[in-house]
Amino acid sequence: MNSELISEFKAGDNTIYHIDHPKFRASISKFGGHVLSFAPQGAQDLLWLSKTAKLDGSKAIRGGIPLCWPWFGPATGKNEGQPQHGYARSTFWNFELLEETDSKMVIKLQPEFSDDLALDFDLTAFVTLSDTLKVELHSTNKTSDHQELSQAIHSYFSIANIDETELGGLENTEYVCKVTNQTVSQESLVKLTEHSDRVYNTANSPILIDDQQRQIKVGGNNHDSVVVWNPWAQNAAGMGDFDDLGYQQMVCVEMANTQDLNLAAGETYVMSQTIGLAD
Ligand code: BG6
Repeated sequence: MNSELISEFKAGDNTIYHIDHPKFRASISKFGGHVLSFAPQGAQDLLWLSKTAKLDGSKAIRGGIPLCWPWFGPATGKNEGQPQHGYARSTFWNFELLEETDSKMVIKLQPEFSDDLALDFDLTAFVTLSDTLKVELHSTNKTSDHQELSQAIHSYFSIANIDETELGGLENTEYVCKVTNQTVSQESLVKLTEHSDRVYNTANSPILIDDQQRQIKVGGNNHDSVVVWNPWAQNAAGMGDFDDLGYQQMVCVEMANTQDLNLAAGETYVMSQTIGLAD
C-alpha cells in the first residue's frame, strides 16, 4: 500500500501498517486481515488489544477485530477438527489501497487461502476508514449447491472499566448463554458481572457501549445475531495471550451470522459493521 500516510512495520513474518490520516489513526495487520487499532484523530483508541497478543503471525491475534469466517465458534459437521472461528483470522491477506482522500481511505483485503482448504466460498473484505470504521465481508458461494455460512466481525472494544459499562440496544431480546446453555430474556441494559458468552438472536443495531466516559456506537448490516463476550478473570488468566487484568478494560460486541445462513450457488452475501463515537 503506497501512501505517505502509511508506515510499514515487520513483526516476525507479519507486516503491520500504521495509518496517520487527518481524520483517524489505525493499524492493520496482514496476518488475519485484522484491524488492530482505530481512533478518530484526537480520541483514544476504540479497540482493545491485549498487551500479550502475538503479532508475529504465529497465532490468531487477541484483540482488535478478528474475522471469524467461514464459520463462527467451534468447527462442526464436515469441518469437525478444524480451528475454532474458521481460517480467516490465521491467514495472511493482501491489501490494496483503493481510495485516499482528505476525508477517508478505502482498503480492499483478500485472504491468501491455500487451495488445499477447498473452501466453498470466496471472501473479499473492504475496510473504510474516516472518523468511523466500517468493515465489510463479501462472501460468494463458488460451488454449484447451497452452502451454509456463519461468520462474525469479532470486535474487542476498549472501555474504562467493565463494572461501569452498559450496553444498550439489546433490550427486549433473547440470547443463548453459552456458559449455561440456556435461553435468557434480556429486558434492560446489559451489565456484565461474570464470564459472559452470549449470542443475542437479533438483527438490531446500533449497540451503544457506554462506559460512563464515552459512548461507542456499533452499527451492523445483514447480521442475524450480536455476540457479547467477556472471559472474566479466571478464563483470561488461563489464556497465554490475554493480559490478566485486561478483561476489565474490554468487551467484545460482534456482528454475526449464526443462524443457518444459506447461500445459493453463485450468491454473494455482504455483512458489515461500522463503529464510531456517538455524538
Ligand atoms: C467468542 C465466542 O466470540 O469468542 C466464545 O462466543 C469464545 O465462545 C471467544 O471463547 C474467544 O474465542 P477464541 O477462539 O479467540 O479464544
